[in-house]
Amino acid sequence: MHITIFKKIKDIKKDHPLFIASLFLWAAITAAVILMYGQDMATAAGSGVFTVLILYMSYHLLKNYTPAFMKIYKNLILTASVTAMSVMIIMLLRYMPGIPASSAYLFPAAAAGILLTILIPATIVAGAAVILISLIASVLGGYSFNYFFVYMAGGLVAVFSARDVRTRRDLNRCGLHILVFNIFSILAVELMSPSAGSASLEIMGINLAWGGINAFVSVVVAGGLLPFFESSFSITTNIKLLELGDFNTPLLKRLMLEAPGTYHHSLMVANLAENACEQIGANPLVARVGSYYHDIGKLTNPQYFSENQQGIDYKHDKLKPNISALILKRHVKDGLALADEYNLDQIIKDMIAQHHGTSLIRFFYDKELNGADERDKVEKKEFKYPGPRPQTREAGVIMLADSVEAGCRSLDEPTYSRITGLVEKIINMKFTEGQLNECDLTMAGLEKIQKNFVHTLSGIYHSRIEYPEDKEEKAVE
Ligand SMILES: [Fe+2]
Ligand SMILES: [Fe+2]
Repeated sequence: MHITIFKKIKDIKKDHPLFIASLFLWAAITAAVILMYGQDMATAAGSGVFTVLILYMSYHLLKNYTPAFMKIYKNLILTASVTAMSVMIIMLLRYMPGIPASSAYLFPAAAAGILLTILIPATIVAGAAVILISLIASVLGGYSFNYFFVYMAGGLVAVFSARDVRTRRDLNRCGLHILVFNIFSILAVELMSPSAGSASLEIMGINLAWGGINAFVSVVVAGGLLPFFESSFSITTNIKLLELGDFNTPLLKRLMLEAPGTYHHSLMVANLAENACEQIGANPLVARVGSYYHDIGKLTNPQYFSENQQGIDYKHDKLKPNISALILKRHVKDGLALADEYNLDQIIKDMIAQHHGTSLIRFFYDKELNGADERDKVEKKEFKYPGPRPQTREAGVIMLADSVEAGCRSLDEPTYSRITGLVEKIINMKFTEGQLNECDLTMAGLEKIQKNFVHTLSGIYHSRIEYPEDKEEKAVE
């Protein structure tokens, strides 16, 4: 018995952030209930146990059904913070002078729905949190089922509609959905409740008005708090990604002007990676914007990279292979330094660091081998990128798209069958080299990526490609 308790305490220490998040929530909810319903022992005990039960159920639901979400403490702390913030808003609405008691429908549960959907990578958890917040808010609002239902309806519709939010302006569309659901759910519960017959039209009107204002308040609260959560939890939302992918940002502008070849290559990689990620259910926006920045380090020495060398002397002819490899390897390090200088998000830095993994710079390695007296003297390590290998599916796809695009550019005649052969060869090579061992790409995913790359590249080189079917048609003619 003692050992079990001791082990449990040790586990708590190991799960420190989880424990802190739970304690934080337990304290917030219990304090709110006590404050509202009386400072006596019975209320304190009841609310304490109520909160423990809620946390216990949430913990086991999350642990069993969304284990990946549970592993990232940032997600848990964020969900707990948004829930605690909601409790604070309920208290504020209750005690703020000038806000009448009849305004319970004003509580913006939908703001929590919008925030969580945009900030955490699990819509199902955002939905569950909204139901939980609605439950707590309805307890604090006078144990009312009507409130619970209206908060939940507005909150859940916010979760569904915030999934497609791409710009801060899209939040207005969310507000419209919330408005419609608030109005209909208030109408439904008010008409359904036992006291409906005695309620006047005027009260119904007031309730509906609160529901309408609620939609507006939800959007304002969510929009206002979003940048705060983004920066304090260093989260890169889709909204932020779109802002980073704007070609008016200083670094992308520099790439466009100072290394036009790399800029064009990055656009092609972005196109390939985005389409492929869409196919396998990874985040296409992360892939697109990550691709824009993946070779940003080439800005330091653009003329040493093949895509920027058209019509110029081949710089590497005059250099030893190991020096050439050193220059090539440097673009990863330089990219990270530039990312730091321009304050880019971690997700972009990861793409810069991982897009070559620990690949061998084969061309210069072979060149060195051919020139060396004794093969043993050539250090393979000198010709390898520093890594790490891709850690996410998006990074894995960018690595493949990058190699495929560069390979395709070197094809003299990019026919359909040559492109197919090249894509297959490159993906097989990266796979057997073990470059994809640390990201979650499956064999089925790789198959889809391969087909998608061929499809996209065929589209890009369309005018220059003869499709197998065309050949057959010509033969028939
Ligand atoms: Fe690169
Ligand atoms: Fe590249």
